[in-house]
Amino acid sequence: MKHSLLTLLLAATAFGVQASEAAKAAPKGDPARGEPIASTVCGACHGPDGNSQVAANPKLAGQHPEYLFKQMSNFKGHDGKQPERVNAIMNGMIAAFDENQMRDLSAYFASKKQTGESAKNRETIEAGQKLYRAGDMTKGLPACAACHGPSGAGIPAQFPRIAGQFPEYTEAQLKSFREGSRANDPAKMMRMVAIKMTDAEIKAVSDYVAGLR
Ligand code: HEC
Ligand code: HEC
Repeated sequence: MKHSLLTLLLAATAFGVQASEAAKAAPKGDPARGEPIASTVCGACHGPDGNSQVAANPKLAGQHPEYLFKQMSNFKGHDGKQPERVNAIMNGMIAAFDENQMRDLSAYFASKKQTGESAKNRETIEAGQKLYRAGDMTKGLPACAACHGPSGAGIPAQFPRIAGQFPEYTEAQLKSFREGSRANDPAKMMRMVAIKMTDAEIKAVSDYVAGLR
């Protein structure tokens, strides 16, 4: 148990170095060029400023641009291959856009301010907070804070912001990582976390994170 936790954290560190080097080399997007596409195409589901009103559609506002770009690339199939992140809606939506447009869209949504959700379930807040801050050493579950930061703002470029997101979306992602239907996490970092979690733990931490600032 302890050993797998250590492996996970070492993987996270090694990946961090790689990813920040990749990010340095990448060209920057232009938010002004992203705006017209965001407001006409993406806005219908994610909100024109990236603050979606519907829990199934994640908020994109305030997310790190490198993470947004990575997700868009993962939704897009490359060289006729199956996309790395499978979602019928997004696989279709992103198909029409090239790399430069995806960088512009990433820069646009990253520049917007997130209107965060709030925690709704009083009974599970404490349990959610405990998991977030400390994990559960007895079963080798690392603290979310170790990778997503103490306030859930993420650690650019590789660890996304998860604070303020819809709890339903967070819960759905954790379950997808657990069953392996979402498998685009580098070094299996999220799959190794989610596989150790029960439904109740996933629900508690998702609700807690919605209210985290
Ligand atoms: C018809 C609704 C719809 C439209 C239009 C749409 N999306 Fe999405 N988007 C979704 C859904 C649903 C998800 C969540 C997919 C999942 O559950 O894995 C998503 C997920 C995403 C994510 C992943 C966010 C994360 O936190 O991991 C990004 C990035 C994204 N969309 C960008 C875009 C962009 C850019 C556009 C416009 C070109 C767009 N979307 C248009 C419905 C939509
Ligand atoms: C070892 C580092 C690590 C730990 C610990 C960790 N995460 Fe993650 N998490 C990641 C990485 C890396 C990604 C980005 C995956 C990708 O690139 O698609 C991620 C992605 C996510 C996402 C998807 C976000 C989105 O917008 O689609 C959620 C939700 C999430 N983590 C929640 C959690 C929660 C809750 C915990 C604690 C129970 C946790 N994570 C612990 C590294 C970690």
